[in-house]
Amino acid sequence: MPTNEPERLWTILEILQWTISFFKEKEIEPARLTAEVLLAHTLKKDRLHLYVNHDEPLTPAEREAFKALIRLRVQGTPTQYLTERQEFWSMEFAVAPGVLIPRPETEHLVEAAIERAKPLEQPAIADIGTGSGVIAISLHKELPHAAISASDISEAALNIARRNAETLFPNGHRIAFVQGDLFAPFAGQCFDLIVSNPPYISTEEYAGLSREIREHEPPTALLAGAEGLDVYRRLIADAANYVRPSGWLLFEIGNTQAEAVTRLCQENGWTVEQVIKDYAGLNRVVAARR
Ligand SMILES: C[S@@+](CC[C@H](N)C(=O)[O-])C[C@H]1O[C@@H](n2cnc3c(N)ncnc32)[C@H](O)[C@@H]1O
Repeated sequence: MPTNEPERLWTILEILQWTISFFKEKEIEPARLTAEVLLAHTLKKDRLHLYVNHDEPLTPAEREAFKALIRLRVQGTPTQYLTERQEFWSMEFAVAPGVLIPRPETEHLVEAAIERAKPLEQPAIADIGTGSGVIAISLHKELPHAAISASDISEAALNIARRNAETLFPNGHRIAFVQGDLFAPFAGQCFDLIVSNPPYISTEEYAGLSREIREHEPPTALLAGAEGLDVYRRLIADAANYVRPSGWLLFEIGNTQAEAVTRLCQENGWTVEQVIKDYAGLNRVVAARR
């Protein structure tokens, strides 16, 4: 946005057009959507407002606030950390630096869990490494009678997850949020389903991720040792103590990890009954049973 133009009033359309071409030049993709989302956020309106009111001018304060967001986005801050929102399972979740931005692929894990829990009268489910709470909260929405526990090692993540549950279910919910290392908060408990999207990025893969991810998303949510299998290894080794005899272990996996995770399951007395692919045709979820 050209500076030193104190007198000039920019309309919504003009400022969007300028920002879209600036984002394209800076290789911020998708340029139009990013510009619209950030401008709508600045104006505290939805995106439709931008179309309906395209000839409305921005106030100088709005223009300055928008400029600040453009600057941060171009410097690498993910759009979701600027708007502090991400949609998942048709709900708006709060996110913030310190918690992973939920990815759409994780909805396949939620689907797999619903399919298995639905026939049960009162399923007990644990979501390990809940982050912003998307998995636990989506399961609560679809399975209101389930007893759901959600854990994370990060207190910052749990605070956001709790806040999301309270905002999305203002009349109360049945999710127990607990802090701790993997199964540590669940001593003596048994579940029908253990669901987890754990950290699964290898050291090598991590080095190849975009700067946007490496410099802004929490490494503890992503990194899992040399092969990316460290957390699966620990979860699978201990799971039998926390899963009922006919219960399920459901993991999101990296697209190259199906074989290795299946082997870990077999070595620990679990049978992988299904490997579910995502919409891109990549292996995404492993469902194992004792
Ligand atoms: C890949 S993120 C998934 C977050 C969320 N479930 C989602 O799908 O968007 C992994 C989460 O596991 C948590 N985590 C990492 N190591 C953990 C551990 N040892 N015990 C419990 N949680 C852990 C991280 O803090 C992070 O929130």
